Amino acid sequence: MPKVRFIKENLEVEVPPGTTILQASRAAGAPEGDRCGGVCACSTCHVYVVRGFDNTSEIEDEEFDILDKATDVRMSSRLGCQAKIQGDIDVELSDESFEAFCDEHPDQKERAKALRSRA
Ligand code: FES
Repeated sequence: MPKVRFIKENLEVEVPPGTTILQASRAAGAPEGDRCGGVCACSTCHVYVVRGFDNTSEIEDEEFDILDKATDVRMSSRLGCQAKIQGDIDVELSDESFEAFCDEHPDQKERAKALRSRA
């Protein structure tokens, strides 16, 4: 099964092929935002696939359109709710996504910050 590593939080999880990065972050306990509920409408699940980009599904037009609205977009940018995992990858959550998670989950904000500071 593919391994997904969330590098800033130093978390790792194995998931079946076809799992989205957002689903993997939930399984790992990584603080990734998902304001629209994973329907490609908000960009708060914006991540960077810093290793193994080719081990993710193709980017569809709809994802490009939403990424256009994201901040600090890079060549490695993906929407976590759209990118399906096909092999081992390393993922960095964008600051945008981390901050969205903290806004959405105030009860988990301290844990999320602690995860980031230990990496
Ligand atoms: Fe909103 Fe991915 S969770 S676009």
